[in-house]
Amino acid sequence: MPTTLTELPAWTALTDHHRMMKDTLLADLFADDSRRGERLNAEGAGLYLDYSKNRVTDETLELLLDLARETGVEKKRDAMFAGERINVTENRAVLHTALRQPRGATVMVDGENVVPAVHEVLDRMGTFADAVRGGTWAGFTGKPIKNIVNIGIGGSDLGPVMAYEALKHYAQRDLTVRFVSNVDGTDLVEKTRDLDPAETLFIVSSKTFTTQETMANASSARAWLLAALKNDAAVARHFVAVSTNADAVQKFGIDTANMFGFWDWVGGRYSMDSAIGLSVMLSVGPDGFGELLAGFHEMDEHFRTAPLEGNLPVLMAMLGVWYNNFFDAQSHAVLPYDQYLQYFSAYLQQLDMESNGKHVTLDGQAVDYQTGQVIWGQPGTNGQHAFYQLIHQGTKLIPCDFIGFCQTLNPLPTPDGPPHHDLLMANVFAQTEALAFGKSLDAVLAEGVDPSLAPHRVFDGNRPTNTLLADKLTPRILGALIALYEHKVFVQGAVWNLNSFDQWGVELGKVLAGKIVPELKVGEEPALEHDSSTNTLIKRYRDRR
Ligand code: F6P
Repeated sequence: MPTTLTELPAWTALTDHHRMMKDTLLADLFADDSRRGERLNAEGAGLYLDYSKNRVTDETLELLLDLARETGVEKKRDAMFAGERINVTENRAVLHTALRQPRGATVMVDGENVVPAVHEVLDRMGTFADAVRGGTWAGFTGKPIKNIVNIGIGGSDLGPVMAYEALKHYAQRDLTVRFVSNVDGTDLVEKTRDLDPAETLFIVSSKTFTTQETMANASSARAWLLAALKNDAAVARHFVAVSTNADAVQKFGIDTANMFGFWDWVGGRYSMDSAIGLSVMLSVGPDGFGELLAGFHEMDEHFRTAPLEGNLPVLMAMLGVWYNNFFDAQSHAVLPYDQYLQYFSAYLQQLDMESNGKHVTLDGQAVDYQTGQVIWGQPGTNGQHAFYQLIHQGTKLIPCDFIGFCQTLNPLPTPDGPPHHDLLMANVFAQTEALAFGKSLDAVLAEGVDPSLAPHRVFDGNRPTNTLLADKLTPRILGALIALYEHKVFVQGAVWNLNSFDQWGVELGKVLAGKIVPELKVGEEPALEHDSSTNTLIKRYRDRR
């Protein structure tokens, strides 16, 4: 049995197959099969995936699925769902899927069914959310809470802020919800400057409750509150915590009765459907949050049970492997055509890049193949007027996911033209068509363009895209969409034989920053023992601050 990925039969077959496919045109694939667009699609959990505009044949797809099988994707998936300790470097199970199991389900961790505990926390969150939303959770002076400020970073921020924005249509609009993440004091100052402390509730969200940025922001928020309310007892009415670290929460001064817990088997970037989503629940209510979880669960079930040929996360993951490992595509763009999804790509950056940005295999061997891609994007149509030029005519291959909805949440007619939503969706369809089929020199010349200018107007096409369509952006669909990408990342990590659930790569910078902080203290300024660049930069900062 070969030990490395690149020695597997499916990998070798794909390498040979790529030689045949690398110059194959999407235009020809469509010309040869008039039903290609009707055939190459799949559906699950309310999401429709058209993957026909990819540089693949039926044989490519078979080989990619062979690779998934040979790398044990199904076995690894089942091990994750069963609660095995697949996060080997931290000796933890990986069970974010347990967070969205319905009441009554069973998921065993170390001989204990964790689902009742999950629902116990959800119920407490629900009671708390109802009290705040209904105005019965009063602040220290008796005023009802009108402002929620979530303090957290990374997985304790990106998921909540993304989902809050995505579900704003369903939000209780008289609650102001804000997110403070950056240790840059500007973030806290700007997000609180127009808020009345007596009406403001802070949620300190941190799995570890030790993260420098979050602890600094939480302390400064507490000082901001106490400067106005002038009584330490106010903290209990204005601060709640979401964490796995009860001791640290208590030490900070938050009553553990106002703490919502989760577990070490929930990774930070997979935690937005745990109590980390409290800000989202406060905004959309317990029922809306329940719908979100139901959407996650529906996609979990699809991923767990659908045959690989029609399995959305598997298909998207393996298409990504095809471009990443055989076409050397360095990045992947995610382009949601919905303003509410403005933070979706930013959220996916952490989900994907922190999970699969790894250089060694599960057993610590250096990889000899590419792993995680650079994930980026922003909502259409704005991106079209910024970076699409490079996707269409640049020299890099950038596979893209387009995400659109058949119904808008804000139907808006234009006074003398088509409605906004038709204008928006026409762009989704037009972009993927243009990227796939381009525009030939002959077509440009036939338009009477001056031959010297014609090359500038040629589009080579053959740029691959996926299109995801859903009927409407609802909490349920959002849950399914997030779970789709979670599992896509899982499948790619399984193929590349990585631990997708640790993040040692963020540690070194944290440690070095911890060493530099005292060196910046005014009045102390100890001798510096870094490299000459770092020393010079620190000295310049000290001199000029
Ligand atoms: O960036 C590293 C990281 O550990 C992320 O994985 C995590 O989401 C983030 O920091 C925040 O961690 P915590 O929730 O413990 O404050």
